[in-house]
Amino acid sequence: MTQNLYRLIYLSRNTILGSNENVHQEIEQILAISRQRNAASGITGALMFNRECFAQVLEGVHDQIQETFERIQCDPRHGDVVVLDFEPVDTRRFSRWSMGYIGYDTLASKEFTQIQLATGFDVKQLSGERIYDLLHVHLYAAEKTGSDLEKIA
Ligand SMILES: Cc1cc2nc3c(=O)[nH]c(=O)nc-3n(C[C@H](O)[C@H](O)[C@H](O)COP(=O)(O)O)c2cc1C
Repeated sequence: MTQNLYRLIYLSRNTILGSNENVHQEIEQILAISRQRNAASGITGALMFNRECFAQVLEGVHDQIQETFERIQCDPRHGDVVVLDFEPVDTRRFSRWSMGYIGYDTLASKEFTQIQLATGFDVKQLSGERIYDLLHVHLYAAEKTGSDLEKIA
């Protein structure tokens, strides 16, 4: 067990405007910087996007997550950031990904939208665990079927 290992799960609202191409470009930039900075800080995790919202899981040492999340929260490309979970965990579930990505044209992101609809977009009714499981199951499935995780779908 890694000491001081935490996971943070949050949701936020996308504020990136413009064409699909513009959105793709911004997300590509987010993923590139995330993969670089997270690898350097020992952070692993996953990001999901369904056009309206982002859901992200960060795993790592407490202070590194805090430092990274402070940066993320200040990013003008999203807003209304709501933390669903920030708690100690025994193991990492996203150890293969410095930032795995699930884009908006995927089953997972459609499921994410369904979950949001079912809760009337009330984040208080959303379980971090459910989002965590959704990201985990779909990232592994994508890996198994050889889907390109780098793809911005
Ligand atoms: C939805 C979203 C998720 C992000 N995830 C990460 C991340 O996991 N790690 C990271 O270093 N930056 C992430 N970023 C980018 C940061 O907000 C920030 O732009 C980047 O870390 C560079 O920060 P700096 O310009 O202060 O050096 C994310 C941004 C957004 C909008």
